[in-house]
Amino acid sequence: MLKEKENKITKIKNKIRAKNNRTTFVSNEEILEFEKRLLFVKDIKENNFFNKTIFGSIEDVAKKLPENFVDLLFIDPPYNLDKDFGNNKFKSKSDEEYEKIFEKWFLNIKHTLKDTASVYVCCDWQSSQPIYSVLRRYLKVHNRITWEREKGRGALSNWKNCSEDIWFATVSKNYKFNIEAVKLKKKVIAPYKENGIAKDWKEEENGKFRLTYPSNLWTDITIPFWSMPENTDHSTQKPEKLVAKIVLASTDENDIIFDPFLGSGTTSVVAKKLNRKYVGVEMNKEYCCLAEKRIEMADKEKTIQGYFGGVFWDRNSLSLQKKEQEKGRSNKKKNFNDPKLF
Ligand SMILES: C[S@@+](CC[C@H](N)C(=O)[O-])C[C@H]1O[C@@H](n2cnc3c(N)ncnc32)[C@H](O)[C@@H]1O
Repeated sequence: MLKEKENKITKIKNKIRAKNNRTTFVSNEEILEFEKRLLFVKDIKENNFFNKTIFGSIEDVAKKLPENFVDLLFIDPPYNLDKDFGNNKFKSKSDEEYEKIFEKWFLNIKHTLKDTASVYVCCDWQSSQPIYSVLRRYLKVHNRITWEREKGRGALSNWKNCSEDIWFATVSKNYKFNIEAVKLKKKVIAPYKENGIAKDWKEEENGKFRLTYPSNLWTDITIPFWSMPENTDHSTQKPEKLVAKIVLASTDENDIIFDPFLGSGTTSVVAKKLNRKYVGVEMNKEYCCLAEKRIEMADKEKTIQGYFGGVFWDRNSLSLQKKEQEKGRSNKKKNFNDPKLF
């Protein structure tokens, strides 16, 4: 079935784009080039899949993957909605059926997890409950992150759907969590002093700022849009900033991150930018090639929107980040291609 549909040329690719539209897409010629870099299911052996995009369905790929190598599993599955992913479509079903499908997906790949691994699963409000029911059967569930997905039209007879969830679970009680790596930097609106001393904030060259620890409510995420090079035509692409928080909190450099539903490649791109190893699986060849193109772009462009100076910034704070960058430029010791710095 894959073979019949694999070279389908989407209408989207032939769209006419505005001059300053920086959306990343792959041409037919690029698909021919990038597909040479993909790992096909029949060619998987031993450890030849690290830092690769594997073209195939997770059902086929999982059987060929060894046990016990994954530090972080990031799952962004088709949600329980009608959705067209080019050569594969997902049809919404009852909660019970969706739970069974998700359980099968998870059990296919469970053996790849190290005992110290963390697992994050993205979902919307409809898929959240069935996914939780599966995760609690096999893992220790620690939290549910809710993030503001500020995009889309409102509904006339319902509340606008403006949030998504991410379940956070681990295989055992022994897991990594680098809270210091995911702090937020916020401009202080009402700077409070106690006995004349700043309370939890600092006066800096560009204003008064507070560094805070992140909660499970994320309101600082920007959905990629057409003027951002991380934007692609993939309909359910995740923002790099969102994946970066998870990668930094739950892995160290050189750890292995596995994404069984890679889509446009966001997880592998972020892993590469942050010096982690990655393995991605995707059953649409065009998306695989898009992922490879973005992974190549990450060789030159290591910045992650909203992550600068080793901290995460609020939405719409680009001018402040630029001022910080200017400050950094005068400090010749800084490496400008390091996302921890910028
Ligand atoms: C929600 S999207 C992932 C988006 C991705 N996180 C990104 O940032 O672009 C789910 C992806 O899973 C792929 N997919 C669906 N079923 C699959 C399967 N059984 N095996 C591998 N990939 C699959 C779809 O083609 C789609 O690109």
